[in-house]
Amino acid sequence: MKPVLISGMQPTGHLHLGNYLGALKNFVNLQNSGRYECFFFVADYHSLTEHFEPEERRNYILDLVATYLAAGLDPKKSTLFLQSTTHNTELGWIFNTMTPFGELRRMTQFKDKSESDPHNINVGLFDYPVLMAADILLYNPSYVPVGEDQLQHLELTRTLARKFNTKFGKTFNEPQPLLTEVPRLMSLDDAARKMSKSRPAGCLFIDDTPDMIREKMKRAVTDSGKEVRYDPKTKQAVSNLILIYATLSGQSIKKIEKNYEGKGYGEFKRDLGELIVKFFAPFQKKKKTLLKKQVLVKRVLTRGAQKANKIGLQKLSEIKKKMGLVI
Ligand code: AMP
Ligand code: TRP
Repeated sequence: MKPVLISGMQPTGHLHLGNYLGALKNFVNLQNSGRYECFFFVADYHSLTEHFEPEERRNYILDLVATYLAAGLDPKKSTLFLQSTTHNTELGWIFNTMTPFGELRRMTQFKDKSESDPHNINVGLFDYPVLMAADILLYNPSYVPVGEDQLQHLELTRTLARKFNTKFGKTFNEPQPLLTEVPRLMSLDDAARKMSKSRPAGCLFIDDTPDMIREKMKRAVTDSGKEVRYDPKTKQAVSNLILIYATLSGQSIKKIEKNYEGKGYGEFKRDLGELIVKFFAPFQKKKKTLLKKQVLVKRVLTRGAQKANKIGLQKLSEIKKKMGLVI
């Protein structure tokens, strides 16, 4: 049997280039490698921790599934499903009883989100990493592809797996994270901060129109000097842009530096803009078509949930037996 791999994303609006280069692009490559049994889901329950209107949430869910499909996730190769149609929350409750309060209080994402929205520090936001551990461990994967900001949550997941195994007997693998070569893409307007939806001004969204992409690239901050050279210590902004160029074009950093020898930031950024426009054009076209096929999208999710639930319910029953819940 192939090793299992699982990951998810929240349906909280359009994805930015950080989500794509740090996670989604890798989901597709890992799926296409044929080496894993892949599960990818939409973390809609996690998204309840932030404010939304129901109609907007529904659209964002459909949008994320269309994004998954248009980017290359294939329901024939991967199991795609909606978190709220599975039994993940049941395992979440069990893990709640095994997670010390203090461990959750020190989670960076909880601290950041509490600071950025002090009027909505809900218990779900606090408990978010426990549900994430359940999302993962219910399917007993060996690997979880994510961006760097999720590593702390994955560490908790591994701790919970170990704790459960010690107390109730070997039940879970301790899954390993899989990072890409861009685990932390930086903002276009401030290279000291990561690209994040909570600061849209620094984001390039993969659904942006060609003109928006060109404009954002033109305005992207650079460093002092004018050489296009990769050096994350002294040229943080330009290095971030070179990394984008390299991953989207498949060219090596050395080759890019050589091509732009004697040319300035302006020309480099203009070319990068064109490269991004070209790269995402087929994706955007495909996604537009998929968004008109809601029936197909829903069918993919229904089938995916059936498969996920078969596996999840079996695991849940094993877990409950081991805990003395089956009489
Ligand atoms: P989120 O938008 O928080 O649901 O993130 C979806 C995925 O994108 C997660 O695996 C994140 O770790 C990853 N991600 C988010 N922001 C970045 C970034 N700036 N660079 C690389 N990966 C990111
Ligand atoms: N917390 C992840 C994020 O913000 C989304 C997520 C929820 C997830 N459950 C997961 C990712 C399980 C990987 C595995 O991006």
